[in-house]
Amino acid sequence: MELKLKYETPIEWAHQAVTDIDSFLQDHADAERKVANMCLSLIAKYPNRTEIIDELIQISVEELLHFKQVYELIRYRGNELNGVFQKDPYMKGIMPIIRSGSDELFMDRLIIASVAELRGSERFKLIGEVVQDPKISKFYTNLHIQELLHIDSFIKMAKCYFDHDIVDQRTEEILTKEAEVSKNLPWRSAIH
Ligand SMILES: [Fe+2]
Ligand SMILES: [Fe+2]
Repeated sequence: MELKLKYETPIEWAHQAVTDIDSFLQDHADAERKVANMCLSLIAKYPNRTEIIDELIQISVEELLHFKQVYELIRYRGNELNGVFQKDPYMKGIMPIIRSGSDELFMDRLIIASVAELRGSERFKLIGEVVQDPKISKFYTNLHIQELLHIDSFIKMAKCYFDHDIVDQRTEEILTKEAEVSKNLPWRSAIH
């Protein structure tokens, strides 16, 4: 099954986001660091899910590398990490759908990780298209492709442990919720 967002971000979103590219980069750096952390925390929480540990370590390394690259762009722009962490209304909006049973929680965490990668990838592509600075543009266009690979990785992990049809059905439900959240959030110079 190829994952497809149920709400498409309009290009105007990117035009607005790049008006304060420095805030966008700060938020993005924070997001990359958080995904790396999330992978490590999945390993800590589920040490018995041995089939996915290598993959989680690998993604964590890749996200940390993205963090490094975004940090380099922040410095290239003449700034430093500002320690300002914007709220994450996106995750907060999606969280209520998470189920509490231990298997269900595990499955939902992986699917949400995948859907969030899909949204990130969509938006990085848009930023790459509209941002003026060629160096930043090239970075986002490449990053869009790299993040696409993570979408499949998380779904595959869920399918290591759960029936494929059940994962696909749950993914549909989460995509529906994600679309509703994304559509209703006010635009900011941030990924979400
Ligand atoms: Fe990343
Ligand atoms: Fe990623």
